[in-house]
Amino acid sequence: MALLIFAAQIMKQEPKRYLITAALPYANGLKHIGHLAGAYLPADTYVRYLRAQKRDVVFVCGSDEHGTAIPIQATKEGITPQEMIDKYHPIIAQNFADLGISFDIYHRTSAPIHHETATAFFEKLNNAGELITKETEQYFDEAANSFLADRYIKGTCPNCSNPGAYGDQCENCGKSLSPDELINPVSTLSGNAPIKKNTTHWYLPLDKYESFLREWIIGEHGNDWRANVVGQCKSWIDGGLQPRAVTRDLDWGVKLPASIQNGEGKVLYVWFDAPIGYISATKQWALDNGKDWKPYWEDASTKMVHFIGKDNIVFHCIIFPVMLKLHGNILPDNVPANEFMNLEGDKMSTSRNWKLEMQDYIDDFIKQENGGSQMADVLRYYLTQIAPESKDSEFTWKGFQDANNSELVSIFGNFINRSLVLMHKLCKGKVPPLHTAILDELDRTTIEAISAAKDKITNLLEEYKFRDALFEVINLARTGNQYMQKKEPWIVAKKLRPEMGDRSEEQMLIDNCLHICLQLTANLAILINPFLPFTAKKICYLLKVVDKILDWENAGSMKLLSVGYSLRAPELLFRKIENEEIEKQISKLGIKNEELRMGSEGLRDTGNEIQVQQIKIKDEIQFDDFAKIDLKVGTIVAAEKVEKADKLLKLQIDLGFEIRTIVSGIALHFKPEEIIGKQVTVVINLAPRKMRGIESNGMILMAEDAAGKLYFVHPSSKIDNGSGIS
Ligand code: MF3
Ligand code: ZN
Repeated sequence: MALLIFAAQIMKQEPKRYLITAALPYANGLKHIGHLAGAYLPADTYVRYLRAQKRDVVFVCGSDEHGTAIPIQATKEGITPQEMIDKYHPIIAQNFADLGISFDIYHRTSAPIHHETATAFFEKLNNAGELITKETEQYFDEAANSFLADRYIKGTCPNCSNPGAYGDQCENCGKSLSPDELINPVSTLSGNAPIKKNTTHWYLPLDKYESFLREWIIGEHGNDWRANVVGQCKSWIDGGLQPRAVTRDLDWGVKLPASIQNGEGKVLYVWFDAPIGYISATKQWALDNGKDWKPYWEDASTKMVHFIGKDNIVFHCIIFPVMLKLHGNILPDNVPANEFMNLEGDKMSTSRNWKLEMQDYIDDFIKQENGGSQMADVLRYYLTQIAPESKDSEFTWKGFQDANNSELVSIFGNFINRSLVLMHKLCKGKVPPLHTAILDELDRTTIEAISAAKDKITNLLEEYKFRDALFEVINLARTGNQYMQKKEPWIVAKKLRPEMGDRSEEQMLIDNCLHICLQLTANLAILINPFLPFTAKKICYLLKVVDKILDWENAGSMKLLSVGYSLRAPELLFRKIENEEIEKQISKLGIKNEELRMGSEGLRDTGNEIQVQQIKIKDEIQFDDFAKIDLKVGTIVAAEKVEKADKLLKLQIDLGFEIRTIVSGIALHFKPEEIIGKQVTVVINLAPRKMRGIESNGMILMAEDAAGKLYFVHPSSKIDNGSGIS
């Protein structure tokens, strides 16, 4: 028993250093705010908190530049893989910087130091006999002289008969597949049927580590890791662990070392090399800063935390830890994975173009500002407030606007602004003294609320509960507002008697109120800093104090601002977000969604996503919102295919009072000749849009089932064209 307690005490000891990682994003396209909210923002918040604690911390991230995701997207964009990663790596890095994500290094897995590190890692495990090799049959394209990654094979889905299913998944019904299950597989490289050929691969025998994983994850961390993380790991382990191939027949990636027999033409599996990217990034950071990287990966007194999204759990909690253990490295102390964030009622998705990219937000909100990055903080605020820490969450533009207008502007910004304005008006622009003799109960409880808030926020941050922690910060500002509201120094000021000078009791009451409000303001700067760093800086500027004041140990103090110190004139911390800005963003999304139905790219995502969509109910609207849509019955009188657009039909619709041209994305579902004469429901007051040079004047409504099949929506029996629907 005594020993156990002793062991627990050792484990509780403060770590000597911290290594914080955030999942390396694929450099194959712009990243959206779901990515930001999933891994990078919580990681950054945690790191800023640690830095404010003056702890030794390194925050690493970078581009994941290998795997089939890279060459496949490059082919789509008509460029080489190298050109593609060179294009996206710097843009993504800049996007993160613009949003205040403060990596110590944003590295890349194409760097030579990474290739060396990953190969050496593989060699060490292989030489130690920790990897096994197996010969298996795999699909091979003779014309292209290449083995085929799963994504490079297409065929008919055994589940739903979709003829365009991929070797790893059918995007129509969502079923995950292996290439062997496809009916009539063809290679997407040559279009030929592939043959089977023998190939050797290296495997990590995960099955051998089942009891280690069970003990470590469920035994050791069953209580301190998030339930969703432990749950996912447990179901993987319970499902039985299999040896996992860590090499691939591919020509893009980290090549196997020449010393390895039969290794030519093979690369490391991307999920083997990418997490090693955390190590190579640390090495590069150490080189750049004259530090030693080794203790960060080898010394047990390092606390390592991986911030990721839930789709990365198995790699960071099962596969990479086994690699690290075999290689002699430390294991993560926690893996606070987030669930997903939806957007306006639907799952964010790159392939369906339903997303808000960091770049979009930066262009529309941050670049618009004159010199400030307050709008970066507004996004950080809302994303943290709705962080999907234990379940999926939902980004809505209305919610974004509300969070800004009714919390940042009305509570946080308002409190600080009033404090400064009143201090200038009633205290000659200087920090007034605190007259302790006349402190009352409300003064005292307000002062106590500051250190109580600090303690709560500290504990919540240590437990990775960022949304609760942020709530407490705002709550403290709320307390400040209430305090001021009760003290009403502007009313007290009316009773001031000039003949009494500074010594009147009224002036002393005013002094106390504003002294407390200003010290509280300085405290708010410290406490908000991990979340909203630009705002914290701006408060420091207004208070004319150096950033050093933001050290966490200063929080709770009532001596942050010296009496008599003169402060700057108030400036607003946050501006109101107007309805028009929000409406503009919502309509942009609407356009995206429509383009998707009409366009030629990514018509569908996986079936899993469809299931999620079906149970989604959009936000409540008012009758007036609905009444704006003018729906009428029409009959299709002509239909033809649109040239060079395989999904579009050009329709002529008889509305009784006129015949309209409407372009609709239904060509994959209906032949032109079979829909003539059908009655349909038409949105007749939708703004006209050009598609492939044809002006479309409205939209026809379609119903869609779970398999993605479309149906017309029409009256139960034929009625006059032009009849209204409401
Ligand atoms: N690129 C992967 C993704 O976007 C994440 C890689 S995380 C790492 O899902 F650990 F492998 F680096
Ligand atoms: Zn299918």
